[in-house]
Amino acid sequence: MDLKLKWIDEEDELFQQVLELRWKVLREPLGMKRGTEHNDLDNKPYTFHIVAIVDEKVVGTCSLFYQEGSEDIKLFQMGVYDEWQGKGVGKKIVLQILDALKNEQRIKTTNKLLEKRLSKLKCHARAYASAFYEKLGFRKVGEMFVEVSIEHYNMEIELN
Ligand SMILES: CC(C)(COP(=O)(O)OP(=O)(O)OC[C@H]1O[C@@H](n2cnc3c(N)ncnc32)[C@H](O)[C@@H]1OP(=O)(O)O)[C@@H](O)C(=O)NCCC(=O)NCCS
Repeated sequence: MDLKLKWIDEEDELFQQVLELRWKVLREPLGMKRGTEHNDLDNKPYTFHIVAIVDEKVVGTCSLFYQEGSEDIKLFQMGVYDEWQGKGVGKKIVLQILDALKNEQRIKTTNKLLEKRLSKLKCHARAYASAFYEKLGFRKVGEMFVEVSIEHYNMEIELN
């Protein structure tokens, strides 16, 4: 599989494919309305999206949001198309995120730059996907909660 990983922002033409993937993988299966694939955190100054591309098609994606002044950064809207799941795409995406945050301490797109040493990467993980994050070194923090009608855990990984 010839898979490329790329950091983009919302101005990039590939962002439309990010929205379509979010819709198909994360929203439509829950019976949610069209439009809910947009997230309030998109378009923020320090929101970044990573895409996994095969043959010019986005097959997996994940977004990061950094709130200025924070020591932590949030991962959200992680998804891989059904037919690409279980092939290591999600793992490659998260490992690339960890490399950017831990080693390079830098994320750059055409229009945005985050250059900072941060202490934790956090996410709201769907309970059924928590083992995926645990395999990558994340741990659960606190009790299960319900979001978008499904069970979630707060999860985090140290970046030091
Ligand atoms: C969860 C998801 C992002 C994982 O991506 P993926 O490309 O399918 O995962 P990978 O093939 O890279 O798997 C990496 C490892 O995690 C494991 N894994 C993947 N999904 C898992 C799951 N749901 N439960 C338990 N383990 C899982 C794999 O078996 C693999 O283990 P290995 O390294 O021992 O072989 C993807 O399946 C997906 O988009 N699911 C639907 C949407 C979703 O739940 N998104 C997450 C919201 S928090």
